[in-house]
Amino acid sequence: MPRFAEFFAGIGLVREAIEPLGWECVFANDIAPAKAEMYRARFGSEHLHVGDIHELVVSDIPHGIDLLTASFPCIDLSLAGNRNGLAGRHSGTIWPFLDLAGELCRRGDAPSALLLENVTGLLSSDAGRDLRAICERMGSLGYRIDILKLDAKWFAPQSRPRLFVVALKSDLGDGTTLASSAVSAIRPRNVRQFEHANGDLPFIDLRLPEPPRSSPLPLAAVLDEVPEEHDTWWPNERVHSLVQAMAPRHRERVEALQTGERDGVTTMFRRVRAGRTVGEVRSDRLAGCLRTPYGGSSVQFLVDCRSGAARIRPLNGREYARLQGAGDFPITVSDRQAWLGFGDAVCVPAVRWLVRHAFGFFYSSERPTADVQPRLCEKSGPYAAVA
Ligand SMILES: C[S@@+](CC[C@H](N)C(=O)[O-])C[C@H]1O[C@@H](n2cnc3c(N)ncnc32)[C@H](O)[C@@H]1O
Repeated sequence: MPRFAEFFAGIGLVREAIEPLGWECVFANDIAPAKAEMYRARFGSEHLHVGDIHELVVSDIPHGIDLLTASFPCIDLSLAGNRNGLAGRHSGTIWPFLDLAGELCRRGDAPSALLLENVTGLLSSDAGRDLRAICERMGSLGYRIDILKLDAKWFAPQSRPRLFVVALKSDLGDGTTLASSAVSAIRPRNVRQFEHANGDLPFIDLRLPEPPRSSPLPLAAVLDEVPEEHDTWWPNERVHSLVQAMAPRHRERVEALQTGERDGVTTMFRRVRAGRTVGEVRSDRLAGCLRTPYGGSSVQFLVDCRSGAARIRPLNGREYARLQGAGDFPITVSDRQAWLGFGDAVCVPAVRWLVRHAFGFFYSSERPTADVQPRLCEKSGPYAAVA
């Protein structure tokens, strides 16, 4: 059974994604007690180490790990954040993670693969220098790298584009280095441009199938039937004044829902525009990208017009879980804590799809060796020399 360690584990949705594929979690780390509470409710506490990654030392990490995962904090990389990049206190936690990976390599215990996940802003952070620095470090440890974009909306009714960086030990391949410049959904133009601009780095293309291109479920399918008298529904007057204050294009979307368009439901964020709080609704059958509830604008609301009149309430924790493809995850905490946990988490079926296809060779009866070809495409480029 391949073994993995989950860093920045949060509530454990990477584990949720890949354990059913036969991966065994042997170590998990996160600093946040509120996340750990949710993690333990699902997975128990055996492998979870709650604390700052800066405090971990290599002897804390079990031997013989195949894969390290790191969905590290996005606060310094996202457009909604402060764009401090990897110099920032939060997203800069990638460095102690890569330091630990380096220590494992030095103790002769190199993981076969590393998997990073973050917002797509990582591609452009500090004009590409941040991602380059990560790839340089991985290359210096003997990994070859694939950069991919996956959007949760291909797997669940939530728009959530994310960048994945997959690093494979160089001896897990044939060393071929023909770079592909083919643009696709998972390797869009800006990924290819980044690779091209950094052609001295050891990029590879994993051989991956086309991902699904739309969610198997519409937004309406993940909603709970919440009784009309439930106190999370806004009073009618509040709904009315918010809809009246919307920009015309958003108000028209609500009016269209009232006539039965798009299943009669959509989601809304509140935003401050020109000093006023206004509601902005989506025009498709998806929820917007879930976020953590820091600041008033981050909670996502349901606008439900199925009865012909608009009603508004926050999405609940269970709906957040379903939008991350984790509908069965036990929720023993308040909605606010669940928003925090799921809003920050990975989309389960997206990660499962990637790990199933990218690391399929781990499931063969033999462990990969230099003679066993992982499923890599040839790429051109000057990186044959990476050890
Ligand atoms: C994007 S979230 C990861 C979510 C997780 N993959 C999940 O599915 O729930 C980033 C995580 O990094 C954790 N974190 C932030 N700073 C940390 C630090 N210094 N040490 C360890 N974990 C940290 C946060 O608590 C948060 O849970």
